[in-house]
Amino acid sequence: MNNRWNLSNKKALITGGTKGIGSAIAKEFIELGASVIIVSRNEPKELLNDKAHFIKTDLSKIKKPERLITKIKQDWGYLDILVNNVGMNIRKKTDEYSKEEYDKIINTNLLSAFELSRLCYPLLKKSTQGNIINISSVAGQKHIRTGSIYGMTKAAMIQLTKNLAAEWAEDRIRVNAVAPWYIKTPLAESVLKNKEYYDEVINRTPMKKIGDPKDVAAAVAFLCMPAAAYITGQCISIDGGFTIYGF
Ligand SMILES: NC(=O)c1ccc[n+]([C@@H]2O[C@H](COP(=O)([O-])OP(=O)(O)OC[C@H]3O[C@@H](n4cnc5c(N)ncnc54)[C@H](OP(=O)(O)O)[C@@H]3O)[C@@H](O)[C@H]2O)c1
Repeated sequence: MNNRWNLSNKKALITGGTKGIGSAIAKEFIELGASVIIVSRNEPKELLNDKAHFIKTDLSKIKKPERLITKIKQDWGYLDILVNNVGMNIRKKTDEYSKEEYDKIINTNLLSAFELSRLCYPLLKKSTQGNIINISSVAGQKHIRTGSIYGMTKAAMIQLTKNLAAEWAEDRIRVNAVAPWYIKTPLAESVLKNKEYYDEVINRTPMKKIGDPKDVAAAVAFLCMPAAAYITGQCISIDGGFTIYGF
């Protein structure tokens, strides 16, 4: 088999891999030959198969990820892929956020990715080709009514991607990001159930549809494959043309 186009025997950690985009990434990775550890606050309804392991952890609590690292060290001894996917949002006007809400969004979306990347760094260095993928958003590139704090975290993830890609290239670790527009997941459902808003989103999207979690999973899988060996520090928009649409 041509190993450039699969993830055969890769060991991957996917945060928030029990629902939506993270769950689709876990399924895609397993189909392509990887073993995965998925992490969330609640047990998943079903575990995919013996190539998937679940660890219950709240990643908004900064100290918690250390448990994960111990588990990876014990089970695998190294790590090929880290997907920083966990994310949440509270939509408000900027002057209405409390400090607690600010901390919750920053800690869950950004600090978890920063700390987990640093904690996984020694394990990724032991891989023949380490990969980090940060799940950003078009909200990190444009104002899309999500609230400023969410946008700040997603923009920072794109910059973190560039910094780590440059710093860790000599360790054979590639770091890339993806920036989805609306994707059909429990997180997006809460806003898309408003028919007027949904219609507006569709009208502003050249491909006239909402994305599927599989659309994101496919791009993430490709970026982690040996076939993408010379791609690092990039952010790919997965947006049906939303960000290139002017008039
Ligand atoms: N859906 C979209 O339209 C869209 C667009 C652009 C970017 N994104 C980004 O894509 C990523 C995934 O979004 P999604 O739509 O798939 O979200 P989702 O459907 O809400 O799933 C989020 C996942 O993260 C877990 N999670 C949430 N908070 C956590 C915490 N504190 N600790 C550990 N796990 C936690 C959830 O499980 P538990 O609740 O059990 O913890 C779940 O597995 C996010 O970073 C989001 O910002 C989504």
